[in-house]
Order: sequence, then structure tokens, then C-alpha cells
Amino acid sequence: MALSEETKAIIKATAPAVKEHGKAITSRMYDIAFTARPEFKRFFVNTWMKHPIDGGPQPARLAEAVCAYALNIDKLDALEGPLAHIAHKHTDTRVIAEQYPVIGACLLQAIKDVLGDAATDEVMAAWGEAYEFLADVLIEKEKAIYQQEDAEMLAKARAGGD
Ligand code: HEM
Repeated sequence: MALSEETKAIIKATAPAVKEHGKAITSRMYDIAFTARPEFKRFFVNTWMKHPIDGGPQPARLAEAVCAYALNIDKLDALEGPLAHIAHKHTDTRVIAEQYPVIGACLLQAIKDVLGDAATDEVMAAWGEAYEFLADVLIEKEKAIYQQEDAEMLAKARAGGD
């Protein structure tokens, strides 16, 4: 479902604050996520496994992606390239759709923790909706990549079986 104009307006209005505190928000998000789900760390082979204390470049990359999303909420076509790249990073580490709500809850809690009073119920509801929207876009892309991989594997198995 498309985002409402009201939601988009709130996201755009809060984008500067999220940008200003981007890395604090995403660092907090990983902190919450890895405390609740320590097993999630194993997905992050190139970041948290190599830089266990601060995740190396990961929090900054996620912060940049969240800000780019907020700033382009009116014109998501502009993010087609970066979203395709993220989807491939996710499928490389076998991220699945079921993990999105967990990470989403952690991200929303982190936004609330870092923005404090500025994170009103209205702001939180808008970010919740916007996260779900973005998650659905990525989940669809990742599903297509997994299906393509399966089709290629099947074709190879069939060719080998002849
Ligand atoms: C809307 C939600 C999400 C956004 C915007 C997002 C964004 C990103 C970005 C920007 C990167 C870095 C790409 C690069 O290296 O250039 C990334 C990588 C990654 N993300 Fe996500 N992500 C989301 C959800 C998730 C979820 C639900 C998981 C599940 C655990 C996840 C796990 C990962 C992993 C494992 C990597 C690769 C890190 C590594 O190589 O160590 N992400 N994501």
C-alpha cells in the first residue's frame, strides 16, 4: 500500500533530525537487536564479525540508507540502484523476510530513544509505516533474487543429470 501524504510529510519533516543523529540511531538499533537476538550477529560477516565492538562501517551505511530514504520519500525511483545493491548484500548473507519486523522494532525503538521528546506518537507511527513500506520493497527484491538463484540451481542440476 502506498504511503499517505500525511506520513510522507512527517517523514520529510523529521529527516533532518534523523540525519543529524543517524549513526547514534543505527548504533543504538544494533545494540538493541544484538542484545535481544545475539544470533543475528552471525549474518554480519563483513562488518560485526570483523569489527565486534562498533561494526566497522555498518551503522554509518545503514544511517545513510535510512536518511536517503527519508529525503527521497516522494521520489523512491531515485533509490532504485542503492536498493538493488542492499538487496544483494542481504541475499549474500541469507537475510529472510521474517527478520524485517524484528529489525524494524529495534530501529523504531532506537529512533525513540535518540530523538526523545521529538519522537511523538505521530512521528513514531509515520516511521513505523515508512519502515514497513521500505521493508516490503526490499523483501520483494530479495524474493526475486532467491527465486532466480533457485531457478539457476535447478537448471544446473537438470543439466548435470542428463
Ligand atoms: C528496511 C530495512 C533495512 C535497510 C534499509 C537495510 C540497509 C542495509 C544497508 C545500507 C546495508 C549495507 C550495504 C553495503 O554494504 O553497502 C545493509 C547490509 C546488511 N543488512 Fe540490512 N537493511 C535492512 C534490513 C535488514 C534486516 C531485516 C536484516 C536481518 C538481519 C539485515 C541484515 C543485513 C546484513 C547481514 C548486511 C550485510 C552486512 C555485512 O556484510 O556484514 N538488514 N543493510
